[in-house]
Amino acid sequence: MAKVEVALSSIPEGKNVVIKWRGKPVFVRHRTSDEIEEANNVNISSLRHQETDDERVKKPEWLVMIGVCTHLGCVPIGEAGDYGGWFCPCHGSHYDISGRIRKGPAPLNLEIPAYDFPDDDTLVIG
Ligand code: FES
Repeated sequence: MAKVEVALSSIPEGKNVVIKWRGKPVFVRHRTSDEIEEANNVNISSLRHQETDDERVKKPEWLVMIGVCTHLGCVPIGEAGDYGGWFCPCHGSHYDISGRIRKGPAPLNLEIPAYDFPDDDTLVIG
């Protein structure tokens, strides 16, 4: 299936869900206001892969990313690691609450898939 639809009201604030899309996991996190602030307060020049949080989201409260580590393709674990985001247990990559690589061998931030919000309660991935 090329596109997957997700009802946003089914994901409480502060929670992650994993959606299967084209055989890959897609992470959707309903971020809290504290998490959005944390994502925006990072000094971009300190990042390996320099992206602002704004460049990675369409709506700050919804972070949507492909759940495949950019090192060698394992699936990172949510709500884990040293930066309040995701942790890849294969070789120890830590991603922040914007999915940006902060520590460990992964070269790039978690990838953002094509997605849209056709209405306030719907996310379409693909
Ligand atoms: Fe994730 Fe190596 S595959 S750290």
